[in-house]
Amino acid sequence: MTRTTIPAVRAESLVRPEIAALAGYVPGEQPQGGKWIKLNTNENPYPPSPAVARAIAATAAGRTLARYPDPLATVFRMRAAEILGVDPDWIICGNGSDDLLTILVRTFVGAGGCLRMPYPSYILYRTLAGIQGAVCDEFHFNPDWSLGDGFGAARTAAGADVRLAIIANPNSPSGTLLPPARVAALAESLPCALVVDEAYGDFADASCIGLVRQNERVIVTRSFSKSYALAGLRFGFAVAQPSVIEQLQKVKDSYNCDALSIAAATAAIDDQAWLADNRAKIVATRRRLGASLTALGYDAIDSQANFVWCTHPERPHRPVYEALKKQGILIRYMQYAGWGDGLRISVGTDDEIDAFLAVIKTI
Ligand SMILES: Cc1ncc(COP(=O)(O)O)c(C=O)c1O
Repeated sequence: MTRTTIPAVRAESLVRPEIAALAGYVPGEQPQGGKWIKLNTNENPYPPSPAVARAIAATAAGRTLARYPDPLATVFRMRAAEILGVDPDWIICGNGSDDLLTILVRTFVGAGGCLRMPYPSYILYRTLAGIQGAVCDEFHFNPDWSLGDGFGAARTAAGADVRLAIIANPNSPSGTLLPPARVAALAESLPCALVVDEAYGDFADASCIGLVRQNERVIVTRSFSKSYALAGLRFGFAVAQPSVIEQLQKVKDSYNCDALSIAAATAAIDDQAWLADNRAKIVATRRRLGASLTALGYDAIDSQANFVWCTHPERPHRPVYEALKKQGILIRYMQYAGWGDGLRISVGTDDEIDAFLAVIKTI
C-alpha cells in the first residue's frame, strides 16, 4: 500500500498566534521516582485526614463511578457553606484552584483585554491572560511587599482598560499578606472584579472571604492542595455573590469535579479538627525554619503561608539550590525578570526541615 506524503506543517502555524507566542507555564519539578525531600511546590508534608480515604473507598465501592458526577458538587457546597457562614449558591467548585482561575480569566478577560496582577506573584495569571490574547499588567510590589494605590487604577500606563485583577493573598513567593482592609480599599478603587487567590489562606491570620458580602466585585478562591494535603486529588472552590457564581457556571466544564474528589473534599472539609491540628504543626515549623534561616544570614520573610521566601545579601542563590538538589533536597529557585531572584522553601515535617538545615549550613 502506498502512503501519500503529507507536507510537514509546523504546529505553530496552525494554532492561534497568541498560543504560538506563549512560553507556557512551567510548574515546579515533580520527580516521579527516587527518594527526595520535596520542599519545592508547597505541598503539605502530612497525609490528609483519614476520613478522606474512607470517603473515597465508599464512593468507589458502589455504582457512583458508573454515573456522571453532580455538576455542581452540591454535597460539598452545602457542607462548606455551613462552615464558611454563606449560602451554597455563593460557592463554585473546581478541579484545583487553577481550574477556578482559568474559569475566572475566561469569564472576565477577552482578547485585547487586560489582567492586572502584582509582581512578583503566581506566574500562572500571566499565562492565563496570554491564552486569552489579553495583556498582563504586572504592577510591582513595594520593597516591603505592600501594594501602592496605583494597583487600583482603571487603566494601564499604555491606556488599556483593566478587566480583572488578581492578588495571591498570602502571596507567592513572598508569603506576605495584604490586610483585608487594604484589599477592600483596592477593590473599591478598581473598575473591575478582584480575585483574591487564597490558596494559602488557611495558614494566614486573616481572610478576605468576609469582603465578598460587602462588595460584589470581590471573589475569593481556595485550594485543597495545601492546607488539606490533597494536591494529588485536585479540588478547590471560589466564594462570590450568587449573581457572579451564575456567570462562572456558564464557563466551567460541565463535570469539572469528579465523584471521588467531591466525596473526598467533603470529608476533608468536614474534619475541621484535622485542619486545626495540621495548621498548628505547619505554623510552628514555619517559625523555626524562618528563625534558622535568619540565623544563617539569610533575609527570611515573615510568612503567612506554608513556605518561607529568603534571599542572601552576598551569596548567589542558584548554587544553593543546586547543592541541595545534589543531596536529594528540592527547594524552589525563583528568578523574576527585572526584579531579582531568591529561594522558596516549603514547610516540611520537622525531620525534613532538620535535614534541609543540616545541608544548607554547610553550603
Ligand atoms: C498562589 C497559588 N494559587 C493557586 C495555586 C494552585 O493550586 P491548586 O493546586 O489548587 O490548583 C498555587 C499552587 O501552587 C499557588 O501557589
